[in-house]
Amino acid sequence: MPDLWLVVLCILLAGVVFVLLRPKRHHLPVYIGDQEHISKIMGSIEMKRAPWEVFDGLAKKYGPICSFHVGRQPVVVLSSSQLAGDLLEKRGDIYSSRPRLIMANDILGGGLRGVTSPYGDYWRRWRKLQHAGMSARATLAYREHQTLESTVLLRDLLRHPNGYRDIIQRFSASIVISISYGRRASSLEDTVVKANVASIEAYLRAAAPGKFLVDAWPILLKLPRRLQWFRHAADRKHAKETKYNLQLLQDVQKRMDAGINKECMASRTLEALAEGEYEGVNKVELAFGVAAPFAAGVDTTAGSIEYALVAIMCYPSVARKVRAELDEVIGRSRLPTFEDEPVLPYLQNFLRELVRWRPVVPLAVPHSVTQDDIVLGACIPKGATVYGNIYTMMQDPNMFPNPSQFLPERFDDKALQNMVLPFGFGRRSCPGAHVALQSLFIVVARLLWTFDVVGPNPDPNAHVNHGLVRTPAPFKFTLRARDDNALKCLETEVAHADRKLLEWE
Ligand code: HEM
Repeated sequence: MPDLWLVVLCILLAGVVFVLLRPKRHHLPVYIGDQEHISKIMGSIEMKRAPWEVFDGLAKKYGPICSFHVGRQPVVVLSSSQLAGDLLEKRGDIYSSRPRLIMANDILGGGLRGVTSPYGDYWRRWRKLQHAGMSARATLAYREHQTLESTVLLRDLLRHPNGYRDIIQRFSASIVISISYGRRASSLEDTVVKANVASIEAYLRAAAPGKFLVDAWPILLKLPRRLQWFRHAADRKHAKETKYNLQLLQDVQKRMDAGINKECMASRTLEALAEGEYEGVNKVELAFGVAAPFAAGVDTTAGSIEYALVAIMCYPSVARKVRAELDEVIGRSRLPTFEDEPVLPYLQNFLRELVRWRPVVPLAVPHSVTQDDIVLGACIPKGATVYGNIYTMMQDPNMFPNPSQFLPERFDDKALQNMVLPFGFGRRSCPGAHVALQSLFIVVARLLWTFDVVGPNPDPNAHVNHGLVRTPAPFKFTLRARDDNALKCLETEVAHADRKLLEWE
C-alpha cells in the first residue's frame, strides 16, 4: 500500500513540474505553435530556404508580429518598422539584451564578446569602447586609409576579376583591422586575419543550436568547475585568445610609445584608459572590445560591396546617372575623394538604396527581452527572443513603393533619408555604420568614376547564406576603363597608395 501512495505522489509531482515548466503558449501575441524546424533553419547554412525567407513567409501569412516556441524558448518576430520602433527602440530599456549562448559567449568568449553579451554593465562599458572607436567623428580619422585601400581594391579587381570575393574580403578585413589596431592586412594570410577567422569559426560551432548540453541544461554550470567536462577545451581556447588580443594591444602601445602609431580604436582607448576615463574597464576588456569589429564588420562590408556590383550591372541606367553626377561635379581629371561627398546627392541616395535593397544582415542580431511586456493585449515574456525582421521591413510597399526595384530616387523624400533600419535597432544598433558607409562611398564613387562594369546580368535574388549575413551568389564581371585618362589617374594613385600604405604595415 505505501508503494501505491509513493507512485501516486510521484505522478502528482511530475504533473506539477510539467504544469510549472510548460511554456505559457496562449499568452504570446499571434501565437502560431511550436516551430521546432526553425531551430534547424537558424542553425544551418545548408538549408534550402534561408531563415529570412522563412520569416518573410510568416510575415505574409500572419502579419507584422507573430510568435512561436522552439523547444521551450519563446520567439517573437517583428516584421514592421512601426512595431520594431515601438518595442526595440522606444522600450529599449527592456528589449536590448541578447539570447543567452552559454558555450559560445559565456565560456568560449569568457563573457567578453560584446555582440552577444546580455544588456548590463559589461555591455555598456564595451559599447562605450565601440563608440570611442567608431563614432561619426572618430571615423573621419580612417578616411585616408579607406581611400588608399579603395585604390588598391580597384587595381586588384581590374587585374583579377574572377578572384573578386577574396579581393573584396581582403579590403574589408584591412579596413576593420586598421580601425582596431592602426595596421593593415595586405593579404588574407595576414596573422590577425587568420586568428580572427579561426576564432569566429570556433565561436559559430559553439553557438550551433543543440551542439552543447549545457545550453539546454544550464544547471550543469552548478557542477564543480573541474567536473564541467564540456568547458575544459573551450577554457583553454579562451585563454589563448585573451593572450593574443592582449599582445595586439601591447603592440599598439609600443608603437604609441615610439610615436609611430596610426590613430585607431586601440590607441584612442588606451590613451583614455591611461587618463582614467573608463571606470571599471581593465586591459582584458579593452583587448576584447578593440577586437570586436572584425567579427561584425568584414562580411557585412564585403557583402555590401558585392551587392553594389550586382546593382550596377542589373540597373545600368542608375549607374549611368551616378556617373553623370560624378563627371559633372568632379570632371574627368581626378578620382573622387571624401571632400566631394556633400555635393554628390544622387550617389548618397544610391548608397541608401543599396543597404535597403539588399540588407546584408536581414534579421539583425536577435534581441532578448528582460521583463514581461504587454503587447497588443498579449504578453511577451521575460527571456523571449525577439527578431527584428529587417528583410521584410525593407520590402514594405507602403514605405518603399515598388520595393523590389533599385530606385535611389525614392530617397529624394527627406523623411526617408535618415532611415537606419538596415543597421538594426535602438541601443544595439550597429556601431560600425559610419565606418561601413564611408567604405561604401569611396569604393562605389571611385569604381563608377573609373570603370564600366561589364558582364552577364547576375541574378539579384540568388544569395549565399553565411548564417547571420548574406552575400550575393557568385557572379562574373570584368572592369573596363571608361577612358585612357581614367586608367592613368588610377595608376598614379595606385603608385602613391602602394608607397603610403607602408605606414600601416
Ligand atoms: C553595410 C554594413 C553593415 C551592416 C548592414 C550592419 C548591420 C548590423 C546590424 C543589423 C546589427 C545588429 C543590430 C541589432 O542587434 O539590432 C549590427 C551590429 C553590430 N555591428 Fe554592424 N553592420 C555593418 C557593418 C559593420 C562594421 C563595418 C562594423 C565594425 C567595423 C560593425 C560592427 C557591429 C557591431 C560591433 C555590432 C554589435 C552591436 C551590439 O551588439 O551592441 N558593423 N550591425
